[in-house]
Order: sequence, then structure tokens, then C-alpha cells
Amino acid sequence: MQRAKPSDDPVFPELTEDVVGRIAATTDARVRKVMEPLIRHLHAFVREASLTHEEWRNAIAFLTLTGKICSESRQEFILLSDILGVSMLVDAVNNRAGTGLTDSTVLGPFYAGPQRELTNGDTILLRAEDAPPLVVEGTVASQNGEPLRDALVEVWQTAPNQLYDVQDDAQPEGHLRASFRTDALGRFSFKSVLPVSYPIPDDGPAGQLLQMMGRHPFRPAHVHFMISATGHRTLITHLFISGDAYLDSDAVFVVKPSLIVTPEERDGSHRIAYHFGLEPLGQT
Ligand code: BEZ
Ligand code: FE
Repeated sequence: MQRAKPSDDPVFPELTEDVVGRIAATTDARVRKVMEPLIRHLHAFVREASLTHEEWRNAIAFLTLTGKICSESRQEFILLSDILGVSMLVDAVNNRAGTGLTDSTVLGPFYAGPQRELTNGDTILLRAEDAPPLVVEGTVASQNGEPLRDALVEVWQTAPNQLYDVQDDAQPEGHLRASFRTDALGRFSFKSVLPVSYPIPDDGPAGQLLQMMGRHPFRPAHVHFMISATGHRTLITHLFISGDAYLDSDAVFVVKPSLIVTPEERDGSHRIAYHFGLEPLGQT
């Protein structure tokens, strides 16, 4: 295999300028703004990695396979984006962090659309599970602390067998997912079981890539939340359980310190209390 010798001088710089230069024909300023750095970074990557023909062919085959495995219920390109940290970077670029605001995260592939609305305090289980009980109590407020009444709180999590209902025919549809409405003080609550850490789907190209890079596919135990309130930006986030072995090596880089909670344990049951702050719309 002939590998180009690394050098400080970029290889074939005029090619990059030629490709970038041809975007000038577009009248869409956003296309120019996005495509120019994309081309420059792609070319820089090929030079820096001294990509061989064989590696280029493998990359094409890999992306072809990634496309082929995608279906209504599986989005392998998003999974690739997740394991390369791109999804969380897009989230960070597009969401403000700040005082009074809860950190946001990615939605993930296991959100299954709107679910049955339960009464506060209800259980989200549709069958019994042999796992430590959990009570989640939350408050939802605007950035300035004003409670948000009637906010829609959607939650979902894995079963103790490390699978979501949508991955496991044995689970009743809608098991361990539900929605709630906050009361006049912005409060909601539900019963569940402690979530467990689980592997992301690793039987396809994303799993192969993880293995090639010497990485594991696990995510630390978490509960997902999507909270929508009038006049506010919808918050998509997770709460993680402290002490989990994968908090420092989440396969999809979602963990943020502000989202790690320590359940309070009493008589074998666990309780999480958390305050969610939403960003008012119309702010920049
Ligand atoms: C999840 O937590 O459901 C998830 C997020 C990103 C990739 C895979 C799974
Ligand atoms: Fe998850």
C-alpha cells in the first residue's frame, strides 16, 4: 500500500479552491455558508489522514451498508452521528444553556410519539417488573422561576431487561412511557422502576465502527423527558442515575453533570426530585 508522505504543504490545494469556487453560482447564501466549510474540512480530512484508495472504498461500502440497514424503525445514520458526538454538538450549537435553564440533550431513537396521558402519581408500568421502585417528582418553570401550569411532560425509559417496549415484542406497547400535565404549581410526578444501563443497537455499521475504535456500546441508566409548554422552547433532556458505571463513557456523549441525580432511598424505594427550567420563546 502506497501512502502519501505527510508534508506541511497541503496536497493539491488548487483542487479545494476550485471546488469551493464553484459554489459561487448559488443564490442561496446558506448553501454557501454550509457547503464551503464542509468541502474544506472534507478535503483537509483526506489530506491529514492520507486516505488510501482502499480506505475510501471501504468508507463508501460502509455508508452504503448504513443506508441499507435503515428502515421505518431504524435510523443508522443518526446512530452514527450519535456515536461520533455530532448529534450532541448540533444540540449544543442550537440550544442555550444558562441560569434557570435545564441542559438539553438528543431525543434518541426510542421516542415513540405521543403516549397516553396519565394522572400525576400514576405508574408508567403496564406490567409488573422485578426492579427497585422509583418515584419521580418534578417541577417545571420558566427561566425566571415562574411555575408553568399545564406543561406536557413526556417520559420514557428502558425495562430492566435493557430494552425499550419498541424493541421487545414481549413488552406491552406503551410500557414505561407516558405523558403527564403539570398542575398550577408546575408539578408532576409518576411511579416507575429504576432504569438500567443498556447497549445502543450495535448489530449494524455503527456497532462495527464502535468495535473498530475499541469502544463499548453502553449508555448509562437514564429516564428521557420531553417537556412542552406554551410560549417556551420544548425541552428534550435525560436524567441520569449517579453511580452508573457508564457515566464517564456514554456511547453517545449525552451525559452532562447537571443531569445526574442521586435517588433518595427509603424502605427499598427510590425518589428523584428535579426542577426543569424552560427557555421562553422570543429570546435570542
Ligand atoms: C437513547 O437513549 O434512547 C439513545 C440515544 C441515542 C442513541 C441511542 C439510544
Ligand atoms: Fe435511552
